[in-house]
Amino acid sequence: MNPSEIIKLKRNKNHLSREQIDFFIKGYLNGKVTDYQMSAFLMSVYFNGMNDEETFYLTEIMLNSGEIINLDFLNMPKIDKHSTGGVGDKISLILAPLAAVCGIAVPMISGRGLGHTGGTLDKLESIPGFNVNLPVKNFKEQIANLGVVMIGQTPELAPADKKLYALRDVTATVECMPLIISSILSKKIAEGADGIVFDVKAGSGANLPTKEESAELAKKLISVSKKFGKKALAVITDMNEPLGYNIGNWLEVEECVEVLKGKMVPDIFKLTNVLTGAMIYIGGIAKNLEDGEKIAADNLMNKKAYGKFIEIVKYQNGNVDYIKDSANLKRAKFKKEVLSSEDGFISELNASDFGYASIELGCGRKKTDDEIDYLAGIILKKKYGYEVKAGDVVCELYAESEVKLNNGMKRLEGAISFSKSKPSEKKLIIDILE
Ligand code: URA
Repeated sequence: MNPSEIIKLKRNKNHLSREQIDFFIKGYLNGKVTDYQMSAFLMSVYFNGMNDEETFYLTEIMLNSGEIINLDFLNMPKIDKHSTGGVGDKISLILAPLAAVCGIAVPMISGRGLGHTGGTLDKLESIPGFNVNLPVKNFKEQIANLGVVMIGQTPELAPADKKLYALRDVTATVECMPLIISSILSKKIAEGADGIVFDVKAGSGANLPTKEESAELAKKLISVSKKFGKKALAVITDMNEPLGYNIGNWLEVEECVEVLKGKMVPDIFKLTNVLTGAMIYIGGIAKNLEDGEKIAADNLMNKKAYGKFIEIVKYQNGNVDYIKDSANLKRAKFKKEVLSSEDGFISELNASDFGYASIELGCGRKKTDDEIDYLAGIILKKKYGYEVKAGDVVCELYAESEVKLNNGMKRLEGAISFSKSKPSEKKLIIDILE
């Protein structure tokens, strides 16, 4: 087989066989398919899609590119959560330790920033020393001892997703259903969970913004998970404005630490408890979703999850003092404020624009080998529906250079809208599919 013939087949809207997809993915891993050929292939899939059969083959081939962990030695439910990608979406950092203190083993494999959305691994790595590249042996040891482990794709686990994910990030090939499904499920099934809760985002900052696309993605994530024998549940959630107040790697860790220590940030608090509650429910510890949410909320408020988070950081070599000193307010060198241009109410904080602005500030990558500025980012001072007066600070931008700061400011132009009357309430939890 010749790589360009396979690209041409997809370019011409043909369905690919298991053998053709296998040849292409294995070829990418062993160097016979180049980055430029894979980029062309991904763009062909973006435009021409894949049917359910091709999506299943792609997922299975990506899964089998590495090891599949068996966690049967753990005598407890093993459940994970994965988001389809959001801006300011830092929920995993609170949810993983929280689910663990509620009796769920959480073997979490996450990703880095993807397109305009942030990534759990980049956030964790903003804690100096934090190691997201554990070998399988340490992964198993940690989950046995701590009940939770947070890593990325490695050369042993979902290596195909590791390479494809980094390439999709910078080639405008993120927003594509079969690529999202195979990416998420290849790593989630490799990690050995019995079940997965999906946080499927809908709205301007989601990878598939419309409610129809999000519902279709949710249904497909559930049905493919079930084909692999996994329990699955999807929560469709609003991603029209960034989650919480902080966007940017360290800024998001800092906000999570504050929530874990008891600060009330309403959208983060609600979403964390709904998703953790769903994990507790499909793990068989709660009899329904409401009970699961209540167990989660109790354990978030009693701060046991904070203690577990510190244990994770310690276990994975992160500098715990850096976390504990978050009161020192580590910030990037340069700061600018965005001011309200009028009296009224905030009627939009466009999540996609905030995501792209954060990349300009240094939070994400434009090329696969770009370095991240961990302290860069945005702090919202106002959220959707807040009343403002002209001149009020709507958000603060942080960057390590004035050029990046100015580029971030420019990218935010038009991202914030105002209305004279209070806008209607937004629904954070749009739907739940089992
Ligand atoms: N999360 C992933 O792991 N992959 C995607 O493609 C989107 C979100």
